[in-house]
Amino acid sequence: MSNKPDEETKLSSGLPGLDTMLDGGFNKGRVILILGEPGTGKTIICSQWLHEGAAKGENSMFIGMNEPKSRFLKEMLALGMDFAKLEGDGKFKYVDATDVRKIPEQAKVGRIAVGGRELGLVNLLETIQSTISKFEPVRIALDSMSDLVFRFPTVEERRPVVLDIVESLQSTSATSLLTSELLSTGEERLLQPEEYLAEGVLLMRTLRKGVRTIQILKMRGSKVDTHPRPYVITGKGLEVLATEEVY
Ligand SMILES: Nc1ncnc2c1ncn2[C@@H]1O[C@H](COP(=O)(O)OP(=O)(O)OP(=O)(O)O)[C@@H](O)[C@H]1O
Ligand SMILES: [Mg+2]
Repeated sequence: MSNKPDEETKLSSGLPGLDTMLDGGFNKGRVILILGEPGTGKTIICSQWLHEGAAKGENSMFIGMNEPKSRFLKEMLALGMDFAKLEGDGKFKYVDATDVRKIPEQAKVGRIAVGGRELGLVNLLETIQSTISKFEPVRIALDSMSDLVFRFPTVEERRPVVLDIVESLQSTSATSLLTSELLSTGEERLLQPEEYLAEGVLLMRTLRKGVRTIQILKMRGSKVDTHPRPYVITGKGLEVLATEEVY
């Protein structure tokens, strides 16, 4: 479909334990979905991934849908990641996409009434594309897909929205993480469109007694550890315990 450079090249996730599970890191050029329950650390994983890259001189871009830049910078600084500094060095860019949530149901192009949510999506895709072509990021995180599709209530309406986003990320040479809220759990849970479309899927959950686990559900083109592994979040960020079992 698109130019996929260096299928074998791995980019470190910034989390040593996760790299162990991934057999080295994320495959360059791929789009990976981080699917998780609320508050499990999806945003932190994205940040550690971007921080790792930007600190090494790789342009890194965060597309934020649920919090303004100032809050993101403050929360990540509390975990030891100084994105304001990386931004000053020209290595980090925050695309504030929180506006997409505020667009009215109906909008006007000239005198013509059009669907506001569709227009919001088109604007967002254009902003993402133009920022990518100017900034040429090596790493991208989009957080989160759920904030984008919540106005499209049915799976039928959501699928093309998700497809547009995933395709636009796949058409670049960057490696992208995409987060999404896990909508249902259990053996017979419904798969979400983004799970089919992403080339890799990580699942983050909180089990009984507050034990948190991360599991690789799929990773095209890689030999990975598919066992759920525990992880902890501390003042220094998220740490995956790749050699421990979940009981
Ligand atoms: N200093 C800290 N020490 C321990 N845990 C922390 C610390 N800072 C944040 N956390 C944990 O990180 C979690 C939030 O991480 P994050 O915002 O990445 O989750 P998320 O999955 O993106 O959440 P949401 O669904 O709200 O977007 C909190 O639930 C909290 O348990
Ligand atoms: Mg989050």
